[in-house]
Amino acid sequence: MNETEERSFEKLLEYIGRELDFESDFYNNAYLDRRITARMRRTDRDSYSSYKRLLESDDEEKDALLDSLSINVTGFFRNPEAWEKLRQVLRDLTAENRRVRIWSAPCADGREPYSIAMLALDDPEIRERSIEITATDINPDILEVARAGVYETSQTSDIAGELEPLDAYEPYIDREENRFSVKDRVKKMISFEQHDLIRGDPKRDFDLVLCRNLLIYIDSSFKVPIFETIRNSLRDGGYLMIGMTETLPTQSRDGFEPVYKQQRIYRRI
Ligand SMILES: C[S@@+](CC[C@H](N)C(=O)[O-])C[C@H]1O[C@@H](n2cnc3c(N)ncnc32)[C@H](O)[C@@H]1O
Repeated sequence: MNETEERSFEKLLEYIGRELDFESDFYNNAYLDRRITARMRRTDRDSYSSYKRLLESDDEEKDALLDSLSINVTGFFRNPEAWEKLRQVLRDLTAENRRVRIWSAPCADGREPYSIAMLALDDPEIRERSIEITATDINPDILEVARAGVYETSQTSDIAGELEPLDAYEPYIDREENRFSVKDRVKKMISFEQHDLIRGDPKRDFDLVLCRNLLIYIDSSFKVPIFETIRNSLRDGGYLMIGMTETLPTQSRDGFEPVYKQQRIYRRI
């Protein structure tokens, strides 16, 4: 990017922050640029300034951009090899015969916390009745989708394929052709609430926190505060699982020890 482009990019970000109520400061510029450039290609704009002019006059494009900026890609049992290790963590935690509190943050459309619940119901060595799951996200619209628990196979998501780590999904999901609805026995294990991991307060006494596939988009200055929030939300010895392509920031490493390093599962020390 040359200097003029950089200036128009900054102006565009200011506009997006002000008019679309989107906190662009949280995200890294490479990520924002990728998303914005994709919308520019779709709308045949060849500069940030002409795309800004389009946004100023077109409310539908404002919605389309916001949609594309909210990073909500997710899936059931995302990275199945990591879920095999998580299975062991859930067995160990529930073997202690006490309440086990799990936080999925951010949970996007709910497929991550529903995967935890189904794994617990499916594995005879996990005592699912001890488990309580809290699932949070910053985006209230996506939380509505999560509460509804209905997913469709489309060009971009093969729901039956995602559910393959389960021997059979029928005990947990009703299927009507391409439409998959999570059953009440799974839903009732989870409470969904809105929470901002950057600005929100820590929670308390969790045994396991999953914070996967948010850090990759976040500006590095916000990563340490997020890990502080997570660490303060965990009991001593509580587990943390991050995304397979993510790493703990150097400043946060003293607070955690690896348990399954390759699968990005750690314990609070
Ligand atoms: C890529 S999804 C990750 C979902 C799931 N953990 C997974 O790995 O599949 C990222 C989610 O982060 C949410 N998000 C973005 N900023 C956030 C913040 N500051 N606090 C909480 N959630 C946030 C987005 O709304 C989106 O649903």
